[in-house]
Amino acid sequence: MEELESIEVPWLDTSDPQKFVKNAAKFNQLMMKYRCAIREIRTKFEVLDDEFSVQYKRNPISFIKTRIKKPESIYRKLQKKGLEFTPENIQEQLHDVAGIRVVCSFVDDIYTVAGLLSDQDDVTVLEIRDYIKNPKPNGYRSYHMIVEIPVFFSEGKTPIKAEIQIRTIGMDFWATLEHQIRYKKGIEGMDGYEDISQELLRCAQTVIDMDSEMQNIKNMIGQFHDI
Ligand code: GTP
Ligand code: MG
Repeated sequence: MEELESIEVPWLDTSDPQKFVKNAAKFNQLMMKYRCAIREIRTKFEVLDDEFSVQYKRNPISFIKTRIKKPESIYRKLQKKGLEFTPENIQEQLHDVAGIRVVCSFVDDIYTVAGLLSDQDDVTVLEIRDYIKNPKPNGYRSYHMIVEIPVFFSEGKTPIKAEIQIRTIGMDFWATLEHQIRYKKGIEGMDGYEDISQELLRCAQTVIDMDSEMQNIKNMIGQFHDI
């Protein structure tokens, strides 16, 4: 990882301690806003899941994970885009500072949950990337949404962006392991990397098959029970 201290960044300029403390406070305040947006979105999904469990006696959502992008990653992403590390650039140019991952039981649950969230009138969907209908060449599958929701603070409401990834347990299993393997140091240059990529792609296909078989079983049960 690069040495952040050695780079000229107005927000991280420690030569003027007073200014640094003020900027750190500003950054913390912005991160607090993202944490609040995450809480609101998580609650929206939990409410939908709760309603489903009462009405249909089942839970479309298996679990929810959330994360805030780390300052180093925010800095690096802005730098890659040739942008300064400012609150304005963070809010306007980045859409994944707040991240929510919703892991569903079945493929059709993904579309149900995504549709029910999009229909809520305080949710603005800015972008959809359906990597389930159009998987990435490496085999990655998930349904991605960039949304904006208003969060109410003492000084008024602030629109906050968040990235939502909705996937099945199988897709999450694959993506988590693929991420771990891909981020192993130096793996891209090593001998046999092509074979590893091919193996991962083969595993992705196994997950597709399993997801569709599980969906079929659910549909079969659904003919007898309202699930
Ligand atoms: P960044 O990748 O964050 O720069 O954003 P992007 O605009 O390219 O969006 P994209 O939808 O491609 O990816 C956003 C997020 O999805 C990533 O940060 C990962 O969490 C996840 N993701 C995308 N592609 C892959 C992949 O090939 N493998 C894994 N494990 N996760 C992926
Ligand atoms: Mg990407």
